[in-house]
Amino acid sequence: MQTGNGKEYKMIYLDNAATTLKKPMQVGEAMLNALQTMGNSSRGMHKGSMDAAHAIYGARVKLASFFHCPRPDHVVFTSNITESLNIALYGLLKSGDHVIATDLEHNSVLRPLYLLQKERGVMVDFVPADRSGLINYADFERLMRPNTKLAVCTHASNLTGNVVDIKKVSSIVHAHGALLIVDAAQTAGTWPVDMQEMGADVLCFTGHKGLMGPQGTGGLCIRKGVEIAPLIVGGTGVQTYSTSQPEQYPTRLEAGTLNGHGIAGLSAAIDCLNEIGVETIQTKEIMLTKRFYNGVRNIPGVTVYGDFSGEHLGIVLMNIRDYDSGEVSDLLSEEYGIATRAGAHCAPRLHEALGTKEQGAVRFSFSWFTTEEEIDTAIEAVKRIAEEE
Ligand code: ALA
Repeated sequence: MQTGNGKEYKMIYLDNAATTLKKPMQVGEAMLNALQTMGNSSRGMHKGSMDAAHAIYGARVKLASFFHCPRPDHVVFTSNITESLNIALYGLLKSGDHVIATDLEHNSVLRPLYLLQKERGVMVDFVPADRSGLINYADFERLMRPNTKLAVCTHASNLTGNVVDIKKVSSIVHAHGALLIVDAAQTAGTWPVDMQEMGADVLCFTGHKGLMGPQGTGGLCIRKGVEIAPLIVGGTGVQTYSTSQPEQYPTRLEAGTLNGHGIAGLSAAIDCLNEIGVETIQTKEIMLTKRFYNGVRNIPGVTVYGDFSGEHLGIVLMNIRDYDSGEVSDLLSEEYGIATRAGAHCAPRLHEALGTKEQGAVRFSFSWFTTEEEIDTAIEAVKRIAEEE
């Protein structure tokens, strides 16, 4: 597998949890081809429009198979997972509903929930995280109420990289007749994600991280029978004389022209992932993570956060002494040519649980294209910074 994007990027790129910079060569090629050939899907019968429709439908079929979504027409495209989560939460929660979330959640879940509290009187409870960033599954049971409409839970923390056992969550949630929305921002493409096996009623994903597709792509996979009201309405290319949004998925949730060029890139990315195999990617990321973790955990002055005894993505979160995490990240970038993310990572409740609210933390995150040599260079850089007083 060759990477096309990022070949001019001279740094060691370890910020893949934010976005993958190196993408398979085929992604850019597919996007260029789409830019040169695609019309507007569902808005015409000419070749450009039909080509766009075929490409987009083909992408739905691939994504449905990739995530085990029972129906391709229940794969809805959005511009990112923040939009997907907003659509799911706003489209399912009504005044007086109760929802359970966790301290692991990203602001893409927290902020819509806080607004829904204000606007609709939705009640929210949080499953707490401990100092290691772990949750206790029994808390979902404890927090259930007769009016609990749904739970929303990340598949893995974007901060610590710890993977949540979604099967355990869904068995509790479904026993109470509630729905489960899963945020697969960090796991899609890096970890096997089977929405049926894990029991997700709605699976939200983004295209630009582990899936190695372009930014501006994402979506939702919706189980049959789950009815989500549209967040935005408008042109769909069908039922023009109806005053309301068409009922059927995916059109119900896809007002306006889709990002066909991006979806073509995402579709090519899925082909590449299938060619490599997600399990192979997962194995490589586990190997890289262990190598990095074992290389840094005993360096004097280094604190690594999270739990490394269970399932763990290619993310390692740390601080060096009491150094400001932003300054460490800058140093890594300027002196050592290593790209990381620092500060707060849009997961405020988990920063509080980990005790990193003031200092923030430096996050190293790996991808299929990360090499063992790059890991060793990063370990050496951490060592040197930790030795500096
Ligand atoms: N949510 C992304 C991250 O964790 C941007 O960095």
